[in-house]
Amino acid sequence: MCGIFGYCNYLVERSRGEIIDTLVDGLQRLEYRGYDSTGIAIDGDEADSTFIYKQIGKVSALKEEITKQNPNRDVTFVSHCGIAHTRWATHGQPEQVNCHPQRSDPEDQFVVVHNGIITNFRELKTLLINKGYKFESDTDTECIAKLYLHLYNTNLQNGHDLDFHELTKLVLLELEGSYGLLCKSCHYPNEVIATRKGSPLLIGVKSEKKLKVDFVDVEFPEENAGQPEIPLKSNNKSFGLGPKKAREFEAGSQNANLLPIAANEFNLRHSQSRAFLSEDGSPTPVEFFVSSDAASVVKHTKKVLFLEDDDLAHIYDGELHIHRSRREVGASMTRSIQTLEMELAQIMKGPYDHFMQKEIYEQPESTFNTMRGRIDYENNKVILGGLKAWLPVIRRARRLIMIACGTSYHSCLATRAIFEELSDIPVSVELASDFLDRKCPVFRDDVCVFVSQSGETADTMLALNYCLERGALTVGIVNSVGSSISRVTHCGVHINAGPEIGVASTKAYTSQYIALVMFALSLSDDRVSKIDRRIEIIQGLKLIPGQIKQVLKLEPRIKKLCATELKDQKSLLLLGRGYQFAAALEGALKIKEISYMHSEGVLAGELKHGVLALVDENLPIIAFGTRDSLFPKVVSSIEQVTARKGHPIIICNENDEVWAQKSKSIDLQTLEVPQTVDCLQGLINIIPLQLMSYWLAVNKGIDVDFPRNLAKSVTVE
Ligand code: G6P
Repeated sequence: MCGIFGYCNYLVERSRGEIIDTLVDGLQRLEYRGYDSTGIAIDGDEADSTFIYKQIGKVSALKEEITKQNPNRDVTFVSHCGIAHTRWATHGQPEQVNCHPQRSDPEDQFVVVHNGIITNFRELKTLLINKGYKFESDTDTECIAKLYLHLYNTNLQNGHDLDFHELTKLVLLELEGSYGLLCKSCHYPNEVIATRKGSPLLIGVKSEKKLKVDFVDVEFPEENAGQPEIPLKSNNKSFGLGPKKAREFEAGSQNANLLPIAANEFNLRHSQSRAFLSEDGSPTPVEFFVSSDAASVVKHTKKVLFLEDDDLAHIYDGELHIHRSRREVGASMTRSIQTLEMELAQIMKGPYDHFMQKEIYEQPESTFNTMRGRIDYENNKVILGGLKAWLPVIRRARRLIMIACGTSYHSCLATRAIFEELSDIPVSVELASDFLDRKCPVFRDDVCVFVSQSGETADTMLALNYCLERGALTVGIVNSVGSSISRVTHCGVHINAGPEIGVASTKAYTSQYIALVMFALSLSDDRVSKIDRRIEIIQGLKLIPGQIKQVLKLEPRIKKLCATELKDQKSLLLLGRGYQFAAALEGALKIKEISYMHSEGVLAGELKHGVLALVDENLPIIAFGTRDSLFPKVVSSIEQVTARKGHPIIICNENDEVWAQKSKSIDLQTLEVPQTVDCLQGLINIIPLQLMSYWLAVNKGIDVDFPRNLAKSVTVE
């Protein structure tokens, strides 16, 4: 999905070449998110000029484009602000003109990079076109840049020389939808605006001197300050516009110009950010790295501040100011500067060809990390610090609703039964988009669990807000620390899988699965009747990392299968039931998303209700035939397949007599995996499918980490 990066140096001399390299490198670290085009904006050669470079395709293509344009790389800047973007097309094709930065006019007076979607951009565009602005792209973002210019000009004409953040407030009043955006302007040299609503942004701070305090104050208008006049009306319902001004817009009036801002309306509480005050009051050299993703900041600094929705950050003169439009009761008055725990090495590929392969192989370690410090195997106890205080409330819940998308949804399906068994609370599992489409009834005594690797998935986030509005208790099961979902939920568990970069989720799945099982175990730790079952599961969890390591040894066989029997196949069926249905769905999703082969996860019990029609000697079928209480039924389903000349590959437990016997008379093959407790077997069984999807894709020459049409983090609906 789209990525934002910005770099500001203050009293730290940098050549233009260094600035370009920093911006391009920042974009490179966002590549894993999926994108189709890129761009940067930096200061030009004249005092008020800007250089914008854009290109479709990979960051490497942008590099070539910049080299072609041949800017003088040796010019130095003591202070400078540059902005950069990776775009994933939503409005307008991936074409150069649609790449960000988008500009206000041919003189590039205001340039903007933007993640998210401006839902009222058509109205804004019509209004601005009526005022004589000429649009050059199909993007929704362009109207933001033009709105900046329009409001800047009209204010100036009315004698108001607005500060950059004051101007931004007027712009934001007109925007509907979601955004994470950066703006730079020749009218505000060496300044940058960073603001967000529904799209993540963080700011890394790097300075030689230690910051005086590890927080930044939030600034807001004085209580008695009036609201600014509304400069532009974009639709009728918003911003409390009086009827007169609303009518002006309806009539498309050319007079709907900016009205003068009354004196004292921007009587803001200005303070110097305490964090950036030097001992003697002299300016301190500092660099700021603004990004939608910590992965591009961690190389430079580990000191970061996460912006919250509606925060408006203004960076200038080596200071970071955070403004909000009003003081909210109970809202925090500061934003803390935190230390990132992520190491750069963690996001590098190491000896592997692809991030996905690396992440598959990391699972013995990542699953261990999910449990580390949380399970006492000797006393059979599970302690989840982020949930502990909330357990009594959760136990009283009328029902649990698990809400997620994609792979995260499958981890919910995989653990639903054990939640129900251990907690005796009814559990429903929902795809976030469908949950929202149905406007599912949610009540105060519901507990809603949001599972997300990125913690930024738009549908999941919207569902979270929906549940919060209805007073439900919300729990996050999230990988990305500091992400929106982890911050907005009442409580939760970080799965601690480490950064996942491959678009196809692998290690996050197994860690989510374990985190959810630990959650279910915590819920039942007051139940005497469940003691034996809990001990069985806890002891089973202890062995999981080692067992995953063992399954990974199947890779050569799987690789061979992919190069022979499964090669050039059009379609693949995966059969599973009970605990293995989720594994069938997740395995099929992996194969689809990266090898582009059609594959379906089918509930084995449903086979006779339709799917059997597809079975013949040609259709490849993989069936989960590991041991649990449903084993006889699974055997029977597989017999239905072999009776129709199907020759399935069975994922079964080591030395299973039944399959050994059957393989003598029936055309089937087995892939043997270690046995664990029924509710944990899916953790083991998914590994061969992850490897299979990987090798099917690699054999086809597909760029596994960047499959077509997919993004790692889907931050739009
Ligand atoms: C995208 C990714 C999937 C992921 C899903 C949910 O579709 O490509 O791999 O499972 O989003 O993402 P989340 O970050 O919420 O787990």
